[in-house]
Amino acid sequence: MKIDSSATGRGHTAKYDRIGVGYREIRQPDPRLASLIAGALGDARTVVNVGAGAGSYEPEDREVTAVDPSQVMLDQHPGTRKVKAGAEELPFEEGQFDAAMAVMTVHHWPDPARGLAELRRVSRRQAVFTWDPEHSTELWFFEEYLPQIGERERSSFVPLSVVTGELDAHTVVPFPVPHDFTDGFRAAFWRRPESYLDPAVRAASSTFASLPASVVEPAVARLREDLRSGAWQRRHAGLLERESVDYGYRLVLAGA
Ligand SMILES: C[S@@+](CC[C@H](N)C(=O)[O-])C[C@H]1O[C@@H](n2cnc3c(N)ncnc32)[C@H](O)[C@@H]1O
Repeated sequence: MKIDSSATGRGHTAKYDRIGVGYREIRQPDPRLASLIAGALGDARTVVNVGAGAGSYEPEDREVTAVDPSQVMLDQHPGTRKVKAGAEELPFEEGQFDAAMAVMTVHHWPDPARGLAELRRVSRRQAVFTWDPEHSTELWFFEEYLPQIGERERSSFVPLSVVTGELDAHTVVPFPVPHDFTDGFRAAFWRRPESYLDPAVRAASSTFASLPASVVEPAVARLREDLRSGAWQRRHAGLLERESVDYGYRLVLAGA
């Protein structure tokens, strides 16, 4: 099934049409997050994955329909039920799916409230994995190397209270990021600082990919020098002993 019904989310679509290239290699679904999401979907037989991208975290034992406005992302999706659409206007009937899932995507939606209302309209249960921009612990990269960007990004993310409010959520599950997390989003490499030196790693994160090289390159050069001199390791000796850190990632559950 392929339906092209989207006129929404064009700017963000264009962004993922650009940065989505090569996404799959760096953004490998992490089994720990996958089992958390699978558990949240409960006994749902039919699932719509909104902002599906390349299909990460879709359970293999259910009938999944993938929705994304970016053709580049849909082309990397291995599934057969793919619909090109934005969350704000889902081309489905009311209650068509047992469950809806949305993973690391709500902050890309031009109208999150409308998209979340659409999730509720088309499904009886919702599982949304997102980042809380009001969470106090920030990744060291943004605190120490790009403080002005961390601040800007926080204000552009959707507050957790909006996600829980629009969904009328009943549960919020924190997800501390394990030190060997495989899905290369923003904070994934908190204990593997050298990863941020790799342009391919940065290209697969919308945070880094949205920034001009003139902003990112000097910060990366400073990190490279701090790693070479051992300054980073001295500053973060405590971090290097941690197994996981709560950076504000949350699974929000709603419906029945
Ligand atoms: C960070 S990726 C996450 C993809 C996937 N859920 C995952 O966990 O790997 C964000 C996705 O949101 C999609 N997106 C952007 N605007 C959207 C919108 N208005 N509605 C639905 N998805 C959108 C992008 O095309 C991209 O595939």
